[in-house]
Amino acid sequence: MSASSPPAPPPETSQLNYWNSENAVAYYSYDHRPVFLYYPELRLLGMFQDRWPQMRVLDIGVGAGRTTQYFAELAGTYVGIDFSQGMVDRCQQRFAGRWPGASFQQGDATDLHQHADNSYDLVLFSFNGVDCMSPEKREMALKEMQRVCKPGGWVVFSSHNVYSIPLIPKFEIHPHPMRFLEEARRWWSVKQKNPPVEQVMTTPYVRYYDATIGDNYLIFSRPEVQARDLQALGFTEVRRYANNDGRELITDQDGQHPSVSWVYYFCRKQS
Ligand SMILES: C[S@@+](CC[C@H](N)C(=O)[O-])C[C@H]1O[C@@H](n2cnc3c(N)ncnc32)[C@H](O)[C@@H]1O
Repeated sequence: MSASSPPAPPPETSQLNYWNSENAVAYYSYDHRPVFLYYPELRLLGMFQDRWPQMRVLDIGVGAGRTTQYFAELAGTYVGIDFSQGMVDRCQQRFAGRWPGASFQQGDATDLHQHADNSYDLVLFSFNGVDCMSPEKREMALKEMQRVCKPGGWVVFSSHNVYSIPLIPKFEIHPHPMRFLEEARRWWSVKQKNPPVEQVMTTPYVRYYDATIGDNYLIFSRPEVQARDLQALGFTEVRRYANNDGRELITDQDGQHPSVSWVYYFCRKQS
């Protein structure tokens, strides 16, 4: 840092600035791309098959509403929250009046005081939103998600997999010149901002820069450690699913593979 450059903002402010930026809101609006659910999220459709009209869903880190278009359509009550006011405004603008049971509000996953204990059948935090916070804040958020979930209900979230880190600094050759340049930029910034892979992967929760959310670092987790931590929080059932193909990761070894880039955790609160 030069003598004249301003000090870097604290991580939370920098994250929030990114998620409030026009670029981030536009990217997560998927305006020119088809909307989709990830494989493990598709499982949710069948899991609550005949119960959707009675379901109360809290969709945390809703972004610009990728998941809203599926779950607000089905659920009796759907509440989308995000700590970025920009994302919440976008959802309100896109979905105003579309579903009578749907609403959106600004809110931080680490403090869900506006939501009562035992009030939602499904508490979802999709697309690795929990990786935007420190391990301590992740635990606070998971406890809050557990608190607002009904007994017997489900808390579902995803997180980047530590075991996929070795693939991130690999350079992919693209025939298209613009894509090649973008890939070169990504590769260079990942190399610059992280220590060598062998050094970085030594802790259960790893702080890593993968060049996907501005200048911000993310927290990658080890699936077997995350699952044990969830059991320690008191969830009675913890299932793990690979995001890349949706398969259930039954053994610890199943999740310890670089091709499993993220893992979805389905956690059941005690009835
Ligand atoms: C990768 S985006 C995913 C958005 C959306 N769920 C999707 O799948 O397109 C992560 C979202 O989590 C939100 N987020 C991050 N930390 C949060 C927190 N502590 N509380 C609430 N939202 C948060 C961000 O603002 C962002 O909209």
